[in-house]
Amino acid sequence: MPAQVLDQNQTSKRKQDHIELAFLSQTSERDERFYYEPMLSPHPNEHVIPVKEIAGKKLKLPLWVSSMTGGTEQAGHINRNLARACKEFGMGFGLGSCRIILDDDTYFEDFNVRPILGDDQPLFANLGIAQIEDLLDNKRADKIKSLIKRLDADGLIVHVNPLQEWLQPEGDRIKYSPLDTIQRLINVVDTKIIVKEVGQGFGPRSLMELLRLPIEAIEFGAHGGTNFATLELHRHEDSIKKQLSPITNIGHSADEMVDLTNLALSKLRYDARCKSVIASGGIQNFLDGYYLLSKLKINAVYAQASAFLKHATGDYEHLQQYCESQRKGLMTCYQYLKLK
Ligand SMILES: Cc1cc2nc3c(=O)[nH]c(=O)nc-3n(C[C@H](O)[C@H](O)[C@H](O)COP(=O)(O)O)c2cc1C
Repeated sequence: MPAQVLDQNQTSKRKQDHIELAFLSQTSERDERFYYEPMLSPHPNEHVIPVKEIAGKKLKLPLWVSSMTGGTEQAGHINRNLARACKEFGMGFGLGSCRIILDDDTYFEDFNVRPILGDDQPLFANLGIAQIEDLLDNKRADKIKSLIKRLDADGLIVHVNPLQEWLQPEGDRIKYSPLDTIQRLINVVDTKIIVKEVGQGFGPRSLMELLRLPIEAIEFGAHGGTNFATLELHRHEDSIKKQLSPITNIGHSADEMVDLTNLALSKLRYDARCKSVIASGGIQNFLDGYYLLSKLKINAVYAQASAFLKHATGDYEHLQQYCESQRKGLMTCYQYLKLK
C-alpha cells in the first residue's frame, strides 16, 4: 500500500478513536503542586533528567529500588528482574534483609545480583538494627564485612524498625538506642552506610542526629505506603490487632520529612555529614517523586518498594514497561513542570 494511503488510513483511525474516547477523557482532578509551562521547551529527551550520584556511582534515573525480598521461592526471580531493570535504566538497588544469608549460603543466589547489575550501579546489602546490635555485642563485625564482600555490595543499609519488632509476635528486642548502635557500627566497619525506616519514617530529632553522621544516605521509609508495623499486627489474633492498631497510624509522611530534612539542614549547615537522602514510603508515581526531589535541599533520589514488586513478579518485560513509563513521566516533569 502506498505510504500516503497508509498515512490517511492511520489518521482516519486516530480521528475515529478521538470521537469514541472523548467522553471517557473528562478530567476532574488537578495536581496543584506544579506550574506547567508548555511554551518554553521542545519535547524532552532523556538528558533532561539530572544524573544523581549515590555511593560514587551515577544513576541515570533518580530512582532506587527499596529493600524487599529474599529467602522465599519467588525472591530470586524478583531480585534478578529488579537487578536487570536497575542496570538497563540506571537505578540503584537496596537488597531486602540479608539476615538469612549471614551464616548460611542456602539462599545466597536469591541475593547474588551483582553479576546481573554490573559494576556501575549502586548495590547495598541490608540488615536490621537488632542483628547489628547482636553482631557487635558478640564481636562478630567480621560477619557484616564478609556479607558485603560476598555480595560485592557498595555498602550496607541498616533498617531501624523498633515499632515493627515491638509489634511482631516473635520480634527482637533492641537494647541500645539505634543511634548508639549505628555509631558503633561506623567505628568498626569501614563501609558506606544507609539508614532507613520501614514505614513510619523519622521524626525531627532522629533526622537531625542521622544527618550529623558520616553516612552515605538516609532512606525515609516514611508513613503512607507499605507499613511493616501494620503488617506485623495482621499476624496477631483479631482482638489484639484491633486494640493495638491505632499505634500504626503514627509516623511521618515523605512530604513532612522533606520539610523536616530541609529545616534540619539549615540548622546544621556544615555539621551535616550525611551525603544524600533517599525519599521513600508511599511514593505512588514519578510526579510524587519529582515533587519531593524538587523540594529537597540535598542530593536525593526517590525510592519505591511495592510499586516495583507489583511489576517484578512476572516476566521481565512487564517490569521493563513500568520503568519505561516512569522514565517517560520523569522526562515530562523535568521539561515542563516547576514546583509552585
Ligand atoms: C515485600 C516487602 C518486603 C520488605 N522487606 C524489607 C526488608 O527486608 N528490609 C527493609 O529495610 N525494608 C523492607 N521493606 C520496606 C521497604 O523497603 C519500604 O521501606 C517500604 O515498603 C515503603 O515503600 P513503599 O511504600 O514504596 O512500598 C519491604 C517492603 C516490602 C513491600
